[in-house]
Amino acid sequence: MSINTLQILTGLWILIALIVHVTMFYVTAPFGRHTSEKWGLLIDNKLGWMLMELPSLLIMAYYLGWGSQSFSSYVWVLFGLWILHYFHRSLIYPLRIKATPKKMPLVIAMSAILFNSVNASLNGYYLAELAPLEKYSQVWLSSPHFLLGIFLFIIGFAINLRSDAILINLRKPGETSYKIPRGFLFTYVSSPNLFGEIIEWAGFALMAWNLPALSFMVWTFANLVPRAKNHHDWYLQHFSDYPRERKIVFPFLY
Ligand SMILES: NC(=O)c1ccc[n+]([C@@H]2O[C@H](COP(=O)([O-])OP(=O)(O)OC[C@H]3O[C@@H](n4cnc5c(N)ncnc54)[C@H](OP(=O)(O)O)[C@@H]3O)[C@@H](O)[C@H]2O)c1
Repeated sequence: MSINTLQILTGLWILIALIVHVTMFYVTAPFGRHTSEKWGLLIDNKLGWMLMELPSLLIMAYYLGWGSQSFSSYVWVLFGLWILHYFHRSLIYPLRIKATPKKMPLVIAMSAILFNSVNASLNGYYLAELAPLEKYSQVWLSSPHFLLGIFLFIIGFAINLRSDAILINLRKPGETSYKIPRGFLFTYVSSPNLFGEIIEWAGFALMAWNLPALSFMVWTFANLVPRAKNHHDWYLQHFSDYPRERKIVFPFLY
């Protein structure tokens, strides 16, 4: 595939993200607390998470290992960070969630497999086959956009991990109910885990400074801002004592 073809496909992918973004304010994605039997066949929640996220890990690992220029420049740094995130998301996170009887619609798992496969393929193929070698030289590693980007990536990853850990630990073993999370960034927003994930991929896009990475940032924002709004509205509906001053996902802003 030529660079031009990849850029056009990525541009179309960004357009789809914008359509999905608007749609998701009207149609709540039915997994986690919003899961629903109306969406057809259900599968185990932990299995669903693994199936959904593994393509992203495997496709990027494939391009890192077998790409023609994965080790000819410093693009392996980007591969490494992506693989770190998805190793956790596909193999560690699903084992940590306390979701005993919980299920998710198969259609959600299938659409997430598609979403993750396209994102990983666009990013992996670009880095492994098309990225100009001089762009990812040693100079890139000390550039301001790389340094700020990796800072945001690490901060976002840490916020996401810590917030998810707080949420997961709200339940004692065997419990399935929901509680009001408190402390850390929950003082400011309903979904600091989603905030962290958005910051993380914004940092990645800043570091990578290419269209596929930008498209993944746009998709993350497009998915997670409406999901955070759904979570926030759900809390307000289910807890009369929910802190009203909490924002949805961006501290002090939204
Ligand atoms: N990059 C992307 O586009 C993308 C898309 C989706 C998700 N993600 C990431 O995947 C992770 C999960 O996302 P999510 O929206 O499913 O997160 P979530 O709804 O906040 O749930 C996270 C975990 O905590 C539990 N939990 C949440 N709130 C709780 C409460 N008030 N009381 C007790 N337990 C609670 C959930 O249980 P239940 O499952 O039983 O609700 C789940 O196991 C996040 O880190 C997110 O950033 C990324």
